[in-house]
Amino acid sequence: MAQATFHFPRGFLWGTATAAHQVEGNNTNNDWWAWEQNPGHIVHGQKSGLADDWWGGRWREDFDRAAEGAQNAHRMSVEWSRIQPTPDRWDESALDHYREIVRGLLERNMTPMVTLHHFTSPLWMTEMGGWENEAILDYFVPFVRKVVEALKEYCNLWVTINEPNVLATAAYAMGEFPPGRHDLGAALKVMVNMVKAHAQAYHAIHEEQPTARVGMAVNYRGFKPARPWFPLDRWIAGIQSSLFNDFFPEAASSGVMRFPLWRRHLPEAKGTQDFLGLNYYTRDYVAFDLRKAGQLFGRRFYLPGADLSDTGFIANAPQGMFEAIKWGLNYNLPIIITENGVEDADDDLRPRYLIQHLHQVWRAVNFNFPVKGYFHWTLVDNFEWERGWTQRFGLWELDVETQARRKRASAELYAGICRENGISSDLVAQYAPEIYDNMFPG
Ligand code: GAL
Repeated sequence: MAQATFHFPRGFLWGTATAAHQVEGNNTNNDWWAWEQNPGHIVHGQKSGLADDWWGGRWREDFDRAAEGAQNAHRMSVEWSRIQPTPDRWDESALDHYREIVRGLLERNMTPMVTLHHFTSPLWMTEMGGWENEAILDYFVPFVRKVVEALKEYCNLWVTINEPNVLATAAYAMGEFPPGRHDLGAALKVMVNMVKAHAQAYHAIHEEQPTARVGMAVNYRGFKPARPWFPLDRWIAGIQSSLFNDFFPEAASSGVMRFPLWRRHLPEAKGTQDFLGLNYYTRDYVAFDLRKAGQLFGRRFYLPGADLSDTGFIANAPQGMFEAIKWGLNYNLPIIITENGVEDADDDLRPRYLIQHLHQVWRAVNFNFPVKGYFHWTLVDNFEWERGWTQRFGLWELDVETQARRKRASAELYAGICRENGISSDLVAQYAPEIYDNMFPG
């Protein structure tokens, strides 16, 4: 059997990613908490509840787990509704709490990356119209300043908005996230407001902290024409890809926002990313279909026989990771994989998913593509939005009733990769022997 190690560059960031509402617990003052109270919104009526009890202090033990697993970075987010419980009040104790948490990362030799908006907004903001109301800029930007001022001593890596493309689609077109709308016009308005918010936040952060490195985290989804010989499939896959994938990074790069038959210039957005945050999970096939008006006439599906996750949410398509990175090169920025992972309670798919995706990252690095780090989603099982607790993305399993954590084999595997700063054939033989010959032929 051939033996080798795929090494990563020195200084590569290895971590996991989390988001406040998904791990903190008792975030009672935001739109998601309210949304969870209504039956029908979350699978089985599940609620975030205590989540992973990070606000109660369990971030400590989980950061210990990450550090013992040789991770040298962590991506987390702050909860706006805790820091600004009402429009006219900052909660300094919440800021102190976050200072302690971020310091906790440094104490464990992990580089913090902080996301300022990860899907949730304070209830008072939602009541004012949330992202649909341009007035959100008057609140979001001062909030960003406040956080950066409080944490800049410890952190200089910032994500302004997590997956603005998913938020706009899921909340305003598909009706799956609050406020549960099905309105493309509203989605476009929200997208414009998010570009503005990102751009203003970018400038505000640099004013507060000249050494800051700021980006967005965009969810890149592969859209493959189902029948590559069929022009309408190619056309609709192209439209879906450019709307979903390109809109935000293009706006932040060129200052131009493009929607089919619509375009607007926003010079203040030009050049407002210092790195490209890339979240990649999976890839779809797209077929032109007149019955799918809601999906812009493109029916999306996974191929029969795809290597699917527990609930069929994700198809293991590692080649898509390479394609995502190649696409990211368009923006001429350093790239950080800000999320990648799979829901897999039994951990029978995750080891090969992890290895195969990292192998593609390694390939990209070997083409000298500027990938600087990788954050696995996620450290410990957490509250997965409208899918509640039915999807388990953690390297560690969580018993939601007792708060007990149990290590999955993937946690050991990832620790081995982080420790080695590479993927060794020994690790592959031990954790995913089924892909060994493919990865190390000969
Ligand atoms: C992303 C999101 C994360 C997490 C992940 C897995 O879209 O940013 O918060 O939920 O998907 O579902």
